[in-house]
Amino acid sequence: MDPTHLIPAPRSTHQVLPGALCPLDATTPLAAGPGTEPTARWLRATIGAATGLPLAPGAGHDTGAPGTDGAHGADSAGGVFLRTSPEVERKLGPEGYRLVADGHTVRIDGGGPAGVFWGAQTLRQLLGPDAFRRAPIGPRETWTVPCGAIEDAPRFAWRGLMLDVARHFMPKGDLLAYIDLMAAHKLNVLHLHLTDDQGWRLEIRRYPRLTEVGAWRERTKLGHRASPLWDERPHGGYYTQDDIREIVAYAAARYITVVPEIDMPGHSQAAIAAYPELGNTDVIDTASLGVWTTWGINPNVLSPTDTTLRFYENVLDEVLELFPGTFVHLGGDECPREQWRASATARARVRELGLTSVDELQGWLLGHFGRWLAERGRRLIGWDEILEGGALEAGLPQGAAVSSWRGYAGGIAAARAGHDVVMCPEQQVYLDHRQAPGDDEPVPIGYVRTLEDVYRFEPVPPQLTGADAERVLGAQANVWTEVMEDRRRVDYQTFPRLAAFAETAWSSLPPPPERDFESFQERMTAHYARLDALGVEYRPPGGPRPWQRRPGVSGRPIDGSPPIV
Ligand code: ACM
Repeated sequence: MDPTHLIPAPRSTHQVLPGALCPLDATTPLAAGPGTEPTARWLRATIGAATGLPLAPGAGHDTGAPGTDGAHGADSAGGVFLRTSPEVERKLGPEGYRLVADGHTVRIDGGGPAGVFWGAQTLRQLLGPDAFRRAPIGPRETWTVPCGAIEDAPRFAWRGLMLDVARHFMPKGDLLAYIDLMAAHKLNVLHLHLTDDQGWRLEIRRYPRLTEVGAWRERTKLGHRASPLWDERPHGGYYTQDDIREIVAYAAARYITVVPEIDMPGHSQAAIAAYPELGNTDVIDTASLGVWTTWGINPNVLSPTDTTLRFYENVLDEVLELFPGTFVHLGGDECPREQWRASATARARVRELGLTSVDELQGWLLGHFGRWLAERGRRLIGWDEILEGGALEAGLPQGAAVSSWRGYAGGIAAARAGHDVVMCPEQQVYLDHRQAPGDDEPVPIGYVRTLEDVYRFEPVPPQLTGADAERVLGAQANVWTEVMEDRRRVDYQTFPRLAAFAETAWSSLPPPPERDFESFQERMTAHYARLDALGVEYRPPGGPRPWQRRPGVSGRPIDGSPPIV
């Protein structure tokens, strides 16, 4: 078994017989032990489709002890055997697995059902890139897996990807494809940024205008917010509640949890456009606000009134029905205070609550919803601004967690105060940022963050040790889509860097600078072939393809950014 081509790298591999192969053919059965049926279904639907092999239900179950010479009773005719194993759970945890391929069987023993599924992802990589296609590309009777044993387990329990489906709507089919891509990289948390100034993407039955009005904008700023250019076409879209049920179930069948984000009290103009009473009506004419058409930090924020509290409680009632996971993300980022300062209503609220300034209204609002979620057995997670305005000193609600995006500092402070943290610093893992310095990069914004930079991302900073370090639940890559209007652009920004990110979140790598980027790059040659088979339009190592380049005419960008020189 060649360990060098797996991504993310497994914890350990053991080669039983160099060059020996385990064949899979039309007669190979697939036997699923209790709890492993979702993985068996996934294997038939994906590897079955790619190979054309039926993987018919196997009769017996594997009785052989892992790592033995293959004498295991009922499966002596060969096959793929899935089961959960308390012994693997003790050693590798619920998401860990042991995969053993000998002369005629492949056995995947997971610490729990999720571990079996991650083992199945490894099996697909071991079958070669054509196992990532959706149908066989020609007659081929036998597929092979290199013989050997792998023991593997994730470093972190939270291996996240955030997709901003608010700035540009991602149609459901593309979102489902991204769930498959996450599974292929052993990522397990999909953070869906569902609401923002530029669009509300979730059907709420009680408030139909959120999508009738809030899901559509008249036109879109093209490129950076300083650009004078517009895409004059209307843009929009939303997920119905049935779409969300489908998305959540599709993710769950891949052991991926969907964390919904309803951003408040900033980034809320789409909601205010739909229901003007949510805004600061004594400061501006909120009835004349449309869904925002440009980018940046927006002054039009929610008013700190009972109307707002009740409205969002009702919204969240429906959100909790749809998303069964523990965490609900309530944003909390980038909320300017100017309207609150100018609002008599907001200032009266400050006095009534005994706060010292409007700056504390955000902490009060998020504290309210953090407690509201806790009463319902859920946990608040928010961007690191939820630590501001005295929130940390006053005590964030029990169980609240922080997405540390403005570097590591927020995460360090939160962890030291006893809160869980997801590390997603913009300097390292914001995949909207350009991935090379060249003028032909299609998204000429942000830091230059190369594949190697992402590979060197370390989720636990040296300032956190012992119990504080344990507060780091994991890491997340964030894909903001202001300048990504469709899946091709999202693919370009996300890949190949998501493969590097996945390894930082799953594999137990040595800390930078010892981390071996050369080995990763070597394995990436195999991984590019998998991405090709999957149809992912990644950034090639040599730079963008002609149609992926920054649009321009004779060196003049059409997105309003400075001329290419
Ligand atoms: C953020 O990037 N505003 C969380």
